[in-house]
Amino acid sequence: MKPRVLVTRRLPVVSLSHLESVCEVDLYTKNEAMSPDELKRRVHGKDGLVCLMTDQVDCAVIKAGSNLRIIANVAVGHDNIDIPCARSRGIIVTNTPDVLTEAVADLTLGLMLTISRRIVEGDRLVRSGSWAGWSLDFMLGMELRGKQCGIIGSGRIGRAVALRASAFGMRVVFARHGECKSNHSVQALNTSDNDTWISLDKLLETSDVVSLHVPLTEQTKHLINRQALMRMKQTAYLINVSRGSVVDEKALAWALNSKLIAGAALDVYEREPSVHPDLLGLETVVLSPHLGSGTRETRSAMADLAVANTISVLSGKSPLTPITP
Ligand code: GLV
Repeated sequence: MKPRVLVTRRLPVVSLSHLESVCEVDLYTKNEAMSPDELKRRVHGKDGLVCLMTDQVDCAVIKAGSNLRIIANVAVGHDNIDIPCARSRGIIVTNTPDVLTEAVADLTLGLMLTISRRIVEGDRLVRSGSWAGWSLDFMLGMELRGKQCGIIGSGRIGRAVALRASAFGMRVVFARHGECKSNHSVQALNTSDNDTWISLDKLLETSDVVSLHVPLTEQTKHLINRQALMRMKQTAYLINVSRGSVVDEKALAWALNSKLIAGAALDVYEREPSVHPDLLGLETVVLSPHLGSGTRETRSAMADLAVANTISVLSGKSPLTPITP
C-alpha cells in the first residue's frame, strides 16, 4: 500500500505528480489555509504532511496525525510548526533552505533601493497626476554606495544580502554572535575572517540600512522594539524580510511617525495578511506582500524539495534537509 500524504495547498504540477507517483495524496485545493479542525481531521491516518508556513501545525494537529513520519514545510522558516512536539513523537520535520536564498536576497536589495530611492512614493505621485516635472532638489533619496549595511542574522540569506550590498559599494557589518539574541545554529557556522562583527547596539546606532535575517524564535520576537528603534540613526532605513514578529509593528509606526528613522520596507507582518493600520498611511514605508521567495523558479524548487524530503523519509531513507535541534 502506498504511504498516505496530506498536502495542504496546490503544488506545481511536476512536484505533485512526483509525489503522486509514490504516495496516495490527499490534496486540499482551496486557496485559503485549512481551518485547524479540518487540518486535524484530514491529517488523521496520514504518514506525511506537506504544509505551508500559513498552516499552524501545533501539538494538537501533530497528535491528530498519530501516524505521521514526516512534516515537510514548504518554507525555510518553521515557526509555524511545534518542533519539540514533533520531535518528541519521532516525527522528522524538514524545511526548504538554500533554494530560496538568492530570491530572498534579491528582494531585500530591491526593497533597499525602493525605500532609499523613494520609488513607490514616486510611482504614487506620478499616478496621482501631481508630478510637476524634473528639478534639481526634487524627491531626493539616499545613495547606497559608501553607506553601512547592518545585517542582523548571518545565515545563508544574510550572507547573500551582504554580497549584494557590497556590490553596491556598501560597507557590511554583522551583529556579533549571540547579540542578536538568535539561538539559530547557522549564526555560529557562517563566519569568515573578512567579516566585521559589531555589537547589536552598535550596529543599530551606526548603520544606514538595518536588514533583518533571523528566524522567529522566542529570543528574536520584537527584537526591533522601541528601544532598538530609538538607537537607530534618524536617516536610517529598516528592512524586514524575515518574519513579521521580529519587529514590533506598533513601535515601528510610532518611530516612523516621530521621524526617529527615515523609513522602512517590510515584506512580512505580525498578523499576515493584516498590516498594522498605522503603517498603511505612511509615505515612509514600503509594504510588499511576503514576496521574498516569490519567483516561479524558487517556488517550484521549494515544492520539489519538500516532495523529495517526503518521498525520502517515507521510503525509509534520510531526509535531505531536516531541521536539526
Ligand atoms: C518564507 O517566508 C519562508 O520561510 O520560506
